[in-house]
Amino acid sequence: MAHRPATAIGPIEPYKAKVVESIHLPDAPAREAALARAGFNLFNLTSDDIFVDLLTDSGTAAMSDRQWAGLMIGDETYAGSRNYAHFEEAVRSITGFPEIVPAHQGRAAENLLFSTLLSPGMIVPNNMHFDTTRAHVLHQGARPANLAIPEAYDPESPHPFKGNVDVPRLDELLGREGKAHVPLVMVTITNNTGGGQPVSLENLTATAAVCRRHGVPLYYDMCRWAENAFFIREREPGQSGRTIGEIGRAMFDLADGATMSAKKDGLVNIGGFVAVRDPGLASRIREQLILFEGFPTYGGLARRDLEAIAIGLREAMDPAYLAHRVGQIRFLADRLTEAGVPILLPPGGHGVYLDVRRFLPHLKSSELPGQSLVVEIYREGAVRTCEIGAIMFGDGPVEPGDRPPLELVRLAVPRRVYSNAHLAYVADTIIAVHQRRNAIRGLRMTYAPEHLRHFTARFSPVD
Ligand code: F0G
Repeated sequence: MAHRPATAIGPIEPYKAKVVESIHLPDAPAREAALARAGFNLFNLTSDDIFVDLLTDSGTAAMSDRQWAGLMIGDETYAGSRNYAHFEEAVRSITGFPEIVPAHQGRAAENLLFSTLLSPGMIVPNNMHFDTTRAHVLHQGARPANLAIPEAYDPESPHPFKGNVDVPRLDELLGREGKAHVPLVMVTITNNTGGGQPVSLENLTATAAVCRRHGVPLYYDMCRWAENAFFIREREPGQSGRTIGEIGRAMFDLADGATMSAKKDGLVNIGGFVAVRDPGLASRIREQLILFEGFPTYGGLARRDLEAIAIGLREAMDPAYLAHRVGQIRFLADRLTEAGVPILLPPGGHGVYLDVRRFLPHLKSSELPGQSLVVEIYREGAVRTCEIGAIMFGDGPVEPGDRPPLELVRLAVPRRVYSNAHLAYVADTIIAVHQRRNAIRGLRMTYAPEHLRHFTARFSPVD
């Protein structure tokens, strides 16, 4: 990797701007009005209400000039588009999986895989399910089991691979339930729910061995696989001399298939796929695909989107891009920790996660501290963030032995979008909130839908 010196204002961008989009900081009364209008749920804000948007790193990337050029060679034929061939070749060459099924985004890929493999009463182990993955397991009448290592639940543990699977627990679960009740094991790479934390190659190898011994296939949720490979290269003994592609291949060689939201490490605004080894399974998935998404050579996407994904997947493997991306997250994390703001350590691959229990220790869980913090950060500086805690994961059934969710607020950094000055502004905003933390009051939920409640719930301040 070419070494780029860090500057006083963070890592140097390995790109320059060609197109810009204006953003505006709404004043304090406008922010207050926006909060009231939104029912204190920041998913209900509009772009004009927001100055820096760290709600998600999903579908928010800036595409490259090469990707935009790729859109122009979109061959919008219904069946057999050449862009599908480019997309298929890119996914195959990265993963080695032979059967590639496009889908319009990650949750569509989850639906295709789970509706094909799951029946009511089954269990799906994962290091930690993310929101839609969990919801799709539940939607099939099955049960999600979170089996990350204990360190994953300790925001202060410096463990380098907090996304790792607790392999003895997985072994025990597979021994108890058997393959009849566990149709697949999933590993989410990186572990978004647990702070964007990586999974080591050693842990994937051990997980795969246990799966094989019990005859259960292993799948990855590979949304952020390139960021995971970057951490393996940086932190795992013996891996520093390998390319991101080689590490990725070592990861994928252990698995039977994967789902991906290309809106993350595909560097696009829409798209995803399921990739599997088994041609029989692929045929069954394609039947669902045709019913719900579209023909197997476009899967609910415009063909030009497939071209952008083919290019973006490869750009995300560039070590200069990854070093800058992870460097930006660390820049933000360092500014916050230097000011005493409690964050989940070590910082993850796609964002900084605030540790809410240490940030607002005076608020009880029933006062929704995570959402209260999200609201205060917006109120302070029109920065949008996202609760990843009791509201996102506190409902519905859990496996015996499951731990309560971490209580986090995620500052997800979109790819190639914000400068270090934006992130310094975010840090200043959060430091200001931290300074007045003792005066922060809680919220209560006034409306909660049955599924995925964080998207549409409404709140009001506790008196
Ligand atoms: N799996 C993981 C690990 C994810 O982070 C997401 C999305 C999905 C699956 C679903 O993908 O949105 O394309 O349908 N995560 C976004 C986020 C929304 O904000 O972290 P999708």
